[in-house]
Amino acid sequence: MDHDNQLTRRSFLKSTAVTAAAGAAAASLPYFAAAQGNKRVIKTALIGCGGRGSGAIRDHLVAAQYLNEKHDLGLEVQVVATADWSRDKAVGTGKQLDVPEERCFGGPDAYKRVLEVDPDVVLMATPPVFRPLHFESCIKAGKHVFFEKPVAVDPPGVRRVIAAGELAKQSNLSAVCGTQRRHEEWRNQLAREIRDGAHGRVMGGRVAWNMGKIFGNTPINPKGPDDLVGSGKWQLWVEMSGDHICEQHVHNLDIANWVLGAQAGVDEAEPAHACTHPLSAGGFGHRARRVAGNMYDFFSVDLEYANGIHIHSMCRQVGGCWDWVGEEFTFEKSKPNDFQPQSPDVYAEVGYHRGATVCEHVHLLYGILKEKPINHARNVAWATGAAIMGREAAYSGQRISWQDMFEKPNEKDKRNWYNLQFKPTAEDFETGDVAMLKDGDIRIPGEA
Ligand SMILES: NC(=O)c1ccc[n+]([C@@H]2O[C@H](COP(=O)([O-])OP(=O)(O)OC[C@H]3O[C@@H](n4cnc5c(N)ncnc54)[C@H](O)[C@@H]3O)[C@@H](O)[C@H]2O)c1
Repeated sequence: MDHDNQLTRRSFLKSTAVTAAAGAAAASLPYFAAAQGNKRVIKTALIGCGGRGSGAIRDHLVAAQYLNEKHDLGLEVQVVATADWSRDKAVGTGKQLDVPEERCFGGPDAYKRVLEVDPDVVLMATPPVFRPLHFESCIKAGKHVFFEKPVAVDPPGVRRVIAAGELAKQSNLSAVCGTQRRHEEWRNQLAREIRDGAHGRVMGGRVAWNMGKIFGNTPINPKGPDDLVGSGKWQLWVEMSGDHICEQHVHNLDIANWVLGAQAGVDEAEPAHACTHPLSAGGFGHRARRVAGNMYDFFSVDLEYANGIHIHSMCRQVGGCWDWVGEEFTFEKSKPNDFQPQSPDVYAEVGYHRGATVCEHVHLLYGILKEKPINHARNVAWATGAAIMGREAAYSGQRISWQDMFEKPNEKDKRNWYNLQFKPTAEDFETGDVAMLKDGDIRIPGEA
């Protein structure tokens, strides 16, 4: 166990740097941390109190402590509200963080109650189907956001996140995502080297999340919304998770988009934000072993990027097979020993915490405090889009273009990738009009 994991809740609370809310009013400033004497207070709320949500709030508190130790920022994070589909979970998590019960909310509209508490920052770690709605609501309410990946399950969801991300940019709001790898020092160094030409062109590559069986395999036979959301098996439904190519492999696809975006020297000043997207996808997949839910258990997809560069995307959740999680690229040349990238950025200024999930929050909080908001909404939306395009190529057996799916509806194509929207939607869970899903009801390639 590393040093951070040994920090107990009590040691967070005892720290002068970090306390949970005791209800005392912190002056509310919409965009940046309120100053109280030498203290700078950030009020944080959590939506989704499951495994990752509990981890994310802890990472957030560790990050505040780290920033105070390293940069003497006088930061105080107050956890002001929790929300979950299950009120019991919201209360349970709230109790650990000393959030009063009346600010622990349950139910499908709990995210709205959180916004009424008026936090500065909202962390969200619910199943991905809810992300576009929750993210958009938070940005429209003027909140900084940390949101988990992936950020959508279908093309309209991806476009909604891109639009809300643009609004965040105009409003100087942060939108940092749980992509982890974007906050690792060596990868940022590599992105700078690529951007500054040390390796020559990227010629091609492969990215993968191949692992064993996961999430059990007993049919779920859902009867109501609770069986889809609260069962802890939401991952198994494409309508909830986007399938594992989206829910898990999105990490690796984000790296492909990052590396090729860094090469393109895109419009972003900072290589940490560089991004592009594939132009088309064709591939295959199916379920070899899975019985529960309706997602596949393997995919193999060819992604074509600009200038004819191909990336092989692979992901599998089947035991007893070749496991490999990673990203590899073929470069035109080796980096000269004396190469020095010329691109300082805000990450270099604040530094890197060695735990990537903590470092996400170090960068988030530092960006807020220094009024240099970090906005990764488009990056993660594009990585999610790459996963959705690959998934639909495999489900349908067709080659699909980014333009048809995300930019311009192709009216002649009956499949109409642009308007492919799953049900139930996030809004359906609020109205209670939830279309029920069936185990084993999977898409067959070549069928309409
Ligand atoms: N970056 C990473 O390393 C990483 C790791 C694990 C999970 N994740 C992501 O985090 C997200 C959550 O995953 P998890 O493993 O914590 O799942 P989980 O099932 O443990 O937790 C999800 C929580 O959200 C709650 N919830 C569901 N619908 C809700 C709603 N409408 N409003 C409020 N709460 C709602 C559930 O009751 C549950 O407590 C997923 O998007 C997942 O892909 C990221």
